[in-house]
Amino acid sequence: MHPIEKIRAEHGAPFYIYDGKVISEQASILKNTFPGFGILFSIKANPFMPVLKKMASLGIGADAASAKEVDLAIDAGMKEIYYSCPAPTKEDIDHVLDKCRIIADSFHVLTLLEEAAAARSLTLAVGLRIHPDFTMDGSPQMPSKFGIDESLVWKTDFRKAYPHLTINGLHIHIRSQVLDTEQLGNYYENVLALAIHLQNHLGNKLNYINFGGGVGKVYDAAKQDPLDFKKLQQTISSIKEKYKNELSTKFLLESGRFLACDCGTYVTEIVDIKESHGKKFYIVKNGANGFFKPVLRQMLLPFHPDQIGASYEPFATENDSYEIHVLSDSNETEIVDIAGHLCSGADIMAKDVKVKKGTIGDLVTFNHAGSYAYSLAPLLFASQPMPKEFFIDE
Ligand SMILES: Cc1ncc(COP(=O)(O)O)c(C=O)c1O
Repeated sequence: MHPIEKIRAEHGAPFYIYDGKVISEQASILKNTFPGFGILFSIKANPFMPVLKKMASLGIGADAASAKEVDLAIDAGMKEIYYSCPAPTKEDIDHVLDKCRIIADSFHVLTLLEEAAAARSLTLAVGLRIHPDFTMDGSPQMPSKFGIDESLVWKTDFRKAYPHLTINGLHIHIRSQVLDTEQLGNYYENVLALAIHLQNHLGNKLNYINFGGGVGKVYDAAKQDPLDFKKLQQTISSIKEKYKNELSTKFLLESGRFLACDCGTYVTEIVDIKESHGKKFYIVKNGANGFFKPVLRQMLLPFHPDQIGASYEPFATENDSYEIHVLSDSNETEIVDIAGHLCSGADIMAKDVKVKKGTIGDLVTFNHAGSYAYSLAPLLFASQPMPKEFFIDE
């Protein structure tokens, strides 16, 4: 019996099913392209423990965005944990201080860290998230709520301002879902040039340079080409060679979607079928309150008919698309809207989609459900039962 049918028979629907084999395949691509790099999984993309344990078994570390994610990473057995939270509180810092490497996102966070280190009479090594002057595509830089503006970094005497801190790491993340190989290569080179400048400014070596995320995956094969990983690997090896005398440091890469997106399938069930003014609706369990991303896409499309902008990431993704299958015995197809069961007209997962003709009780599957899927869903609206999660590794 297919795992989806088996799970349905034993547990009912809706549910997520994640395939560890896909994670292994995706991890191999990153490891081959970025040899010697530490690879970190962005836990926010999918915090399901078996997924995290799978990442740990592949030697993948954690990009933790909250104190809870640091604990999840430890529980999963992840060895390298980097805590890069946009606005941690004093309590968060107290909680994670001994458990991971901390990256400061602002001057306020540096002050909190300085106070924590002084209170413990120690010198704390921390990383700095910088909002660089360069951009991924060469366009002018925009204001950002993340990191410290590069220009302010050069004006700051960190040793003087934060005597109990040593800045020993650099973190930059400015864009997700990049599919332009040359752009990504230029970005890595820009980060390294900035790292050298930072080392000179600080007067000490950096222990790590975290290039952040950015490695994109194909969502819609009709509109997108995958990254050229061979070319990217060549670029990486040539820039490593070029800067090897100035930078003897660990390189890190973060990824959520590339590692996990394709491992997940969302499975729900048709609970009603109706027609209204000539349109047919398949109503399924847990639309928005199960897999929110397709619903958000339908909400945004009228405002962005050509392309949804990168600034909506990770809630909505440019050129996002889903393969949707109705698991029915019918040989016929029909065009329907797939709607969730919430009391909102916006709870629509797909519009005018051609699927196998279904009946009440048939399952409906969505791919691309391994990252930013369950972790984004508003689960409490209408107090419906929540989807379950399952992990297979065959
Ligand atoms: C700081 C940071 N790093 C990495 C990622 C992972 O990005 P992606 O899933 O696109 O690889 C994110 C995503 O939001 C992020 O905020």
